Amino acid sequence: MKSGQKQIMKLPHPIHGTFAGVGYARDRAGLPLKAVRVPVPEPVADQVLIRVAASSLNPLEYKLAELNFLGRTPPVALGFDLAGVVADVGPDATGVTVGDEVVAMADLNGDGGWAATGRGSYALARRFLTVRKPSSLSFRDAAALPMCFLSAFAGLHGVVQAGDTVYIPGGGGGVGHLAVQMAARAYGAGTVISSGGRPESIALARRSGAHHVFDYRRDDIAAEIAELTDGRGVDLVFDATYSEQSFAATAKTVRRGGRWIVLGVGPGRTTRVAETASPVAAILAERGATYVNVNLLRYYSEPATLDGEARAFLQRGMDLAMEWANAGLVVPHVSRTIDSTVEAINEGLGSLKTGGGVLGKIAVIVDPELGGPAH
Ligand SMILES: NC(=O)c1ccc[n+]([C@@H]2O[C@H](COP(=O)([O-])OP(=O)(O)OC[C@H]3O[C@@H](n4cnc5c(N)ncnc54)[C@H](OP(=O)(O)O)[C@@H]3O)[C@@H](O)[C@H]2O)c1
Repeated sequence: MKSGQKQIMKLPHPIHGTFAGVGYARDRAGLPLKAVRVPVPEPVADQVLIRVAASSLNPLEYKLAELNFLGRTPPVALGFDLAGVVADVGPDATGVTVGDEVVAMADLNGDGGWAATGRGSYALARRFLTVRKPSSLSFRDAAALPMCFLSAFAGLHGVVQAGDTVYIPGGGGGVGHLAVQMAARAYGAGTVISSGGRPESIALARRSGAHHVFDYRRDDIAAEIAELTDGRGVDLVFDATYSEQSFAATAKTVRRGGRWIVLGVGPGRTTRVAETASPVAAILAERGATYVNVNLLRYYSEPATLDGEARAFLQRGMDLAMEWANAGLVVPHVSRTIDSTVEAINEGLGSLKTGGGVLGKIAVIVDPELGGPAH
C-alpha cells in the first residue's frame, strides 16, 4: 500500500479486518444464502480495493450458489456488480487513486461485495474492469450496469450495423432492456423488435427504444416479424433469455445468412445440469445463419489470464457504459432498491429465479453512508 492510501481505510467505519458478506457456506448450498465472514482483501498486481456503496442482483449469483460451477471452496461471498470508492490499489493498478468514485465488476472466482449487515463491505476488482463513475450517475444506478451492460456489449458491439433490423427478446429484463437501448440509441439499428410476457416488461422494452414489442405468451412473433420484414427475417437476434422455448422461437426469425447470438451456455444447456435436445442448430443451418455463443463466464472466471485484446475489449465496454449512461443513451432501470441484508437479498434472488417478477434490475444499497438509503 502506498503512503496516503490508507486514508479511506482509516475513516470511521464499522468494518475492521473482516466483514459479514452474503453467500454460500457449503458446496452447492443454493438459496437461501447465508451471512459469511470474509476478510477485507488486500489488492495485489492490477487489483483495486473498493469500499462498496451499492451493488445489484444477477441470476448468476443464485446459479453459482446452486451449482458452484467455478469450483470455489466455500465460504464464497457474492455480489459482483460494484459501485463505490477506491480504498486501496495494487502496484500495477495505474490511473485510479484512493478516494475515486468507481464502478467495477469483481472477479467471479473471487469474493463479491454484498454485506449481511447493510453497513458496508469491501471487494476487489481488476483495473481493466474498473472505471470512474460520472457524477451524473448515482452509485445505485451505476451498480446496475456492469454485468448486464457487458453482457449486451459482448453480444452486440461491432456486430450491429446502422440500419440493421434486430430482434432482442425479453426487453424488460436486466440484460434485455440495456441491449435494446444500446441497439436502438447507440448502434443505430434501423428497427429494434422486442418482446415481454407482462405489460410492465413490454412497456419497459418500448421505453428502452424498441420500435415493435410483442407479447411472447400470446403473439405469433415469427409471423409478425415476417410481416414487418417482407418475409426476409431479421439481420440478427440477440437472445439473453436463457429460455429454450425462446431460443427455438427466435432462431426462426433470423434472415438467410443472418446471425443468431445467444448469451451463456446456449441451446440444450440452459439448466447447466441437464442437456436437452434443441432444434436451434438445425433451424439456423437451414437458413445459413451464423450461430454465435457469447459466454462472459470465460472472461470473468479467469481474468488474470486474459490477453491484452480481451482486457481492452472489456475495458472499452466499461468505458462506454459510463459514457452512454452519462449521455442518457443507456439508462439502467432499477425497479427495486433493497437494503443489503441476507433476507432482502434472498427475496430478490428468489424473484429472479422464479422469473416474471422483476423488471430491469434490483439494486442493493450496501453502504447507506455512501450510497444513500434504500427507501
Ligand atoms: N453467461 C453469461 O455470460 C451471462 C451473463 C449475464 C447474464 N446471463 C444469464 O442471462 C439470463 C438473463 O439475465 P437477466 O439478468 O437479463 O435476467 P432477467 O432480468 O430475469 O431477464 C430475463 C428476461 O427473459 C424474458 N423471458 C423469459 N422467457 C422468455 C420467453 N420465452 N421469450 C421471451 N422472453 C422471455 C423475461 O421476460 P418477462 O419478465 O417479460 O417474462 C425477462 O425479460 C440469466 O439466465 C442470466 O444468468 C449469462
